[in-house]
Amino acid sequence: MTLPIRPAVLNSPDYPFIPVNAPIKLDQNESFADFPDELKAIALERLRHAPWHRYTDLNAEALSEAIAAHDAWPAAGTVVTTGSNVLIALLIQLCALGGRVVTVTPNFALYALDAKLLGAALTEVPLRADTSLDMDAVIEALGPSTGDGPTGVIYIPRPHAPTGSLCALHELERLAQACPGWLLVVDEAYHQFAPDDARDLARRHAHVVLLRTFSKAWGLAGVRLGYALASDAVARQLRKLVPPFGVSLMQTVCAQVALEHPGYVRERVAITLRERDRLANALRTHPTWQVLPSHANFLLIRTPDAAAAHADLLAQGVLVRRQDSLHGLRGCIRVTVGTVAENSAFLRAAGVSV
Ligand SMILES: Cc1ncc(COP(=O)(O)O)c(C=O)c1O
Repeated sequence: MTLPIRPAVLNSPDYPFIPVNAPIKLDQNESFADFPDELKAIALERLRHAPWHRYTDLNAEALSEAIAAHDAWPAAGTVVTTGSNVLIALLIQLCALGGRVVTVTPNFALYALDAKLLGAALTEVPLRADTSLDMDAVIEALGPSTGDGPTGVIYIPRPHAPTGSLCALHELERLAQACPGWLLVVDEAYHQFAPDDARDLARRHAHVVLLRTFSKAWGLAGVRLGYALASDAVARQLRKLVPPFGVSLMQTVCAQVALEHPGYVRERVAITLRERDRLANALRTHPTWQVLPSHANFLLIRTPDAAAAHADLLAQGVLVRRQDSLHGLRGCIRVTVGTVAENSAFLRAAGVSV
């Protein structure tokens, strides 16, 4: 019997991730440390006294307000979901069903995967050979604006994943001005590790949406929370697509406790930036590897043979992520900045002096 499933789904590959166990896990750009013990204790105590038999807020209103206060953004424009990856599909549903998705390649896999799953026409603009973003090519890929109805969604990660590069804000401004009929989504999953962010741009353009997550700098990947910072008008429509009562009591309490104690994030980001520099400087002495400058909590490294580098590191207990199947990333592996000890172990395994 043929299953009643859309061909776009049947023909799509699974999400490209194979779980591997290793003593030193530097493959998913997670925070190098768990949520602090004392904050876990506060969250657990609060959960003990909270009513578990009641539904949570319809649209995570209380949490949206706490996030909005932290990010200096209006609560009416803050939309919370169970991970920012959920929003990637929702924004395509909002603006690009039967329309277009434009992004760059190589890139975070989900923009292209969701575009294909949802039947949007996908255009992927190659990064330049030095991995910088060719904004003229992105603008050209949009084609002439028809002016009637939504055209589609543009996805730009900033900092870019998996290269760690940062496109200039004035370049994004140029794109925002060139795409009035599109939704321009700037994915800021790693913004805490970069020198600036795109909130000013998003304040000035109602069709610009920022995506943020608690999975990276906040150290809450296992809790699953992300959000969009959008104009009130876009947020109002986007909320219709978010499942009602979708954010759980557990997620709400964990994030509220984190937002009441943001100091731990600042401390960890400072450590990550120091360690990122130490790793990059040490890797520059490697005889055959080439490390790219990064504005995120990971480094992309071009090696002569990614499979060999990955296997050799894994044999020494260090798990990194292969990126060599992505466009233009032949030989590349990606390593998350870990703890001081993990980073030293990685450098030793790579044959570089610590
Ligand atoms: C660029 C980018 N966006 C979004 C995500 C997904 O974040 P979340 O855990 O909030 O779904 C990731 C995760 O690796 C990412 O690298």
